Amino acid sequence: MAERTVLVLNGPNLNLLGTREPEIYGHDTLDDINARLIARGAELGLVVECRQTNHEGVLVDWLHEARARGVHTVLLNAGAYTHTSIALLDAIRAIELPVIEVHLSDPETRELFRHLSYVGMAAVACVKGLGAQSYIVALEQAAAL
Ligand code: DQA
Repeated sequence: MAERTVLVLNGPNLNLLGTREPEIYGHDTLDDINARLIARGAELGLVVECRQTNHEGVLVDWLHEARARGVHTVLLNAGAYTHTSIALLDAIRAIELPVIEVHLSDPETRELFRHLSYVGMAAVACVKGLGAQSYIVALEQAAAL
C-alpha cells in the first residue's frame, strides 16, 4: 500500500508549549507531542510530519503544499488564527483534503471570542480539550479515514 502521510500543522505561540500558560496547555513541549505523534503514527502505518509557524500565510502555503503532495490528512491547530482567519477557512475548502481541527484546550469553554472557529467551518472533525492527547486522538481519527 502507498505510504500515507499526515501533516501536523501548528500555528502561533504553540512553539512555546511547555512554558506557555501550563495551567491551560499543560507541561508537554511541542517536541514532546511531535515525538509521540511520530511514534503512534508508526504503529498506525502513517508517516507523520510536524511543523509550526507563527505566520498565517505560511499555514496557507503549507495547506496548498499538502494538496500538491497528496498528503492523506492534515491535523491543524491554528492557535488564535482559528478564531480569526477566513484565509485558513478558504484554504481548507480549496485543498479538498480532510483537515482535522485540534486544540489542547476546549476553546468553547473559554472566552467568548474563542467560541467562533473558522477552521471548524471546513474541517471534517475537531478534537479538543484533551491536552496533548488531543493530537493523538486526532491522529487515530486520521488513520481511520
Ligand atoms: C488553542 C486554543 C486557541 O484559542 C488559542 O489561541 C491557542 C491554542 C489550543 O490548542 O487550545 O493558541 O488552539
